[in-house]
Amino acid sequence: MSSNVRPESMERITTSELANKFIEEQVAAVREQVGDKKVLLALSGGVDSSVVAALLIRAIGKQLVCVHVNHGLMRKGESEQVIEVFRNQMDANLVYIDAADRFLDLLAGVSDPEQKRKIIGGEFIKVFDEEASKLEGIEFLAQGTIYPDILESHGVKAHHNVGGLPEDMKMELVEPVKLLYKDEVRVVGEALGLPHSMVYRQPFPGPGLGIRIIGEVTAEKVKIVQDADYIYREEIARAVSEGQIPQFGQPGALGQYFAALTNIRSVGVMGDFRTYDYAIALRAVTTSDFMTAEAAHLPWDLIDRVTTRIVNEVDCVNRVVYDCTGKPPGTIEFE
Ligand code: XMP
Repeated sequence: MSSNVRPESMERITTSELANKFIEEQVAAVREQVGDKKVLLALSGGVDSSVVAALLIRAIGKQLVCVHVNHGLMRKGESEQVIEVFRNQMDANLVYIDAADRFLDLLAGVSDPEQKRKIIGGEFIKVFDEEASKLEGIEFLAQGTIYPDILESHGVKAHHNVGGLPEDMKMELVEPVKLLYKDEVRVVGEALGLPHSMVYRQPFPGPGLGIRIIGEVTAEKVKIVQDADYIYREEIARAVSEGQIPQFGQPGALGQYFAALTNIRSVGVMGDFRTYDYAIALRAVTTSDFMTAEAAHLPWDLIDRVTTRIVNEVDCVNRVVYDCTGKPPGTIEFE
């Protein structure tokens, strides 16, 4: 197995030329490692697993089997993007599993955040394992491990990550980006032709919207938070493209932003009628390392636009609030 230590002489990948050189080397290394055998990859659609998928598709084409488990707690449009990019555009061997009902059934009646995390993480492994055992002749397991994961393997991320795989899955690992930092993974991803929106995606927690719905998760609540979050993301993207707020990677840019569904229902009014509906909380933070964060000072007219659209376009919501709390004492997520 190759070394887990980044050589001091290794140049930082900052340009497409350097990325192309890295890709060429890794393509050769992967071909050498796996020969004509098959490789399995849990493809979440996050930056790291997507870049590994694109790299391995370049190296070994259909010998790579990507499995995308949709736990029903993805953001709106996310699983569809995985199918579009990998199956339709890159012609990957992609197994798509819609497991939403299984997750929702297990989450019924559960409101404790850590319990929800355990259920979602455990079920994810189960579904992936079931799928993997149906596939024949797989000898390698690819993973989107990156250098900070190795450096912090006892830290937050390892503890948080969903998609850790069963111990008894005895396969040799293929980890082509394990010596890269996140910014380098992104440069490589763009050089491999992945869409900008995928490569520069903000972090999304493994348990997904399950921890952005305060309290019990139901299909109705997932739909509410998906729709509200989609509007928020659309308006943020518009504000970025119009130069109202800084672009990702620029000073002052947002580190993470999302809508969460509170468990508050309150009285409102719609036409001549009284409503009793949910409150959506908007969160946006700037942060350098996600260990501490500040609530972003979003322009008021942006918050106003998002609020108007959410209360008009999303059923069962009559109130929108903005979370002004930093971390600490808040966390970035609500659960
Ligand atoms: P908090 O809410 O602890 O989040 O301030 C810090 C960063 O970690 C992400 N996060 C998670 N990621 N599984 C994950 O994969 C989790 O259970 C989880 N909880 C929080 C969060 O989105 C933020 O980027």
